[in-house]
Amino acid sequence: MVLHNFIVFEGIDGSGTSTQIALLKNKLPNPGTLFTAEPTSLATGRFLRTLLRGDERLTPGTMAYLFAADRYEHVHAQDGILQTCADGGIVVSDRYFFSSLAYQSAECGRELPAKLNESFPLPEYLFYFDIEPSVSLNRITGRSVTEIYEKREFLEKTAAEYERIIGEYEKTAVGTGMKITRLDASESVAEVSENIWSILRNMPILNT
Ligand code: TYD
Repeated sequence: MVLHNFIVFEGIDGSGTSTQIALLKNKLPNPGTLFTAEPTSLATGRFLRTLLRGDERLTPGTMAYLFAADRYEHVHAQDGILQTCADGGIVVSDRYFFSSLAYQSAECGRELPAKLNESFPLPEYLFYFDIEPSVSLNRITGRSVTEIYEKREFLEKTAAEYERIIGEYEKTAVGTGMKITRLDASESVAEVSENIWSILRNMPILNT
């Protein structure tokens, strides 16, 4: 079962999810849409940001727990994902549990991230930003601050995990109702944006 009107963007660092979310802000109803991200801006997410800067390192398993805890808050907090959808709103999230299934699996194996994330609701729309790690890394290196996961070898591993996970969810999509779109994220910003909008413009909530 999916959570209706919940949209998620996923992909390795530098795949362009944030750019596309910014463009979507001009297209989806305002007010009426919650634009959000993981790690969140809540206390749990702010703590994760300090760890992502690499000031202090924790064991990979602990990172998996922390991302899942932040997600729990994201989903269940007042004015969070569940509440917003229940009130008739749309939610767009830059990253969700698929990030943990990719990044944390690459770091600490598949079992723990799969267990910690098994009961979160599925989004109705999942957009996977497919891109070669070498291309995405070229985009990232222009930025002033780099984070702990933004290394070539690790992103290659993460991309392989994403590929596996998205493939698995594609197999069960008919049963779950989750609409999965793979985007060629090496295309221009305008092309990717058009591809996304060609799907979302048909959301029932926008056409009633
Ligand atoms: P990112 O979306 O890249 O944030 P920003 O562009 O603002 O730096 O996310 C930060 C990092 O967190 C990114 O490297 C992916 C990682 N991450 C995980 O490892 N697991 C998760 O569950 C989530 C949500 C993010």
